[in-house]
Amino acid sequence: MTVLITGASGGIGYELAKFFARDHHNLVLVARSVDKLSQVATELQAHGITVKTIALDLAAPPAPKFLFDQLQREGITVDILVNNAAFGAYGEFAQMPEEEILGQIDLNITALTALTRLFLPSMIARRSGRILNVASTAAFQPGPLMAVYYASKAYVLSFSEAIANELRHSGVTVTCFCPGATHTGFAKRAGVESSRLFKLVGAMSADKVALGGYRAVMEGRTLAISGAHNWLVAQSTRFAPRKMVTAISRWIAEKVS
Ligand SMILES: NC(=O)c1ccc[n+]([C@@H]2O[C@H](COP(=O)([O-])OP(=O)(O)OC[C@H]3O[C@@H](n4cnc5c(N)ncnc54)[C@H](OP(=O)(O)O)[C@@H]3O)[C@@H](O)[C@H]2O)c1
Repeated sequence: MTVLITGASGGIGYELAKFFARDHHNLVLVARSVDKLSQVATELQAHGITVKTIALDLAAPPAPKFLFDQLQREGITVDILVNNAAFGAYGEFAQMPEEEILGQIDLNITALTALTRLFLPSMIARRSGRILNVASTAAFQPGPLMAVYYASKAYVLSFSEAIANELRHSGVTVTCFCPGATHTGFAKRAGVESSRLFKLVGAMSADKVALGGYRAVMEGRTLAISGAHNWLVAQSTRFAPRKMVTAISRWIAEKVS
């Protein structure tokens, strides 16, 4: 069994890689940082598995196809695809640099969709395969001050649930996994360490979150939300007026000193 994990050089992707390694799955790990990837590979090879690392910027349009072609050439079959790499950027949309806006769409949406489309046909042909798309609790409501990030995760949720339905008799499962705030490098990159979400609500540990994602994909669940408090929040947005939900979402995203 081989598992391809994007964004495996740190955070939730790295913790997911550890769970797969402990269960003796071979790994293909993708991220941009060559050094971090090779450190992770050295650590996880101790489980007696094969770990291949590919340093790629998945936000660059040819990257998903490049990755797919390389694995085809090397005869590596991907049994489980984990689309985990993503980033968020904080700030009002009108002031956000275009490269931050489009970069989130390129990585969080386009690369995830392209990789799913590339690896899915052979899974269907084998009548076996699993796809884990990492979304977020951000998927359940609009996110003022992180409008593009929240919208990108709403896409991942909607897309994953739809194709899970299309694939229900195919032998291939699609799992959408929604973590809430988690202690990783994400908050620093997004500039949200001092938001009410991270300061007041608090964040879960990455290994605990990853365990939830690992179990969900192995059980073939269509949707899994990390943590009971996050599950409750996601449910509550379904019944409250959308304007109110959006206003609360903004309050939670705002920075406090
Ligand atoms: N942390 C949270 O609070 C939180 C909450 C909800 C959902 N999530 C979701 O969980 C997933 C993992 O996030 P995380 O918290 O673990 O973030 P993280 O610590 O920032 O890790 C992100 C990973 O993605 C890789 N990456 C970033 N840009 C990339 C690119 N252009 N091409 C290839 N790889 C790239 C990073 O490695 P390199 O820098 O080496 O490329 C790193 O391995 C994401 O989908 C995120 O949206 C996170």
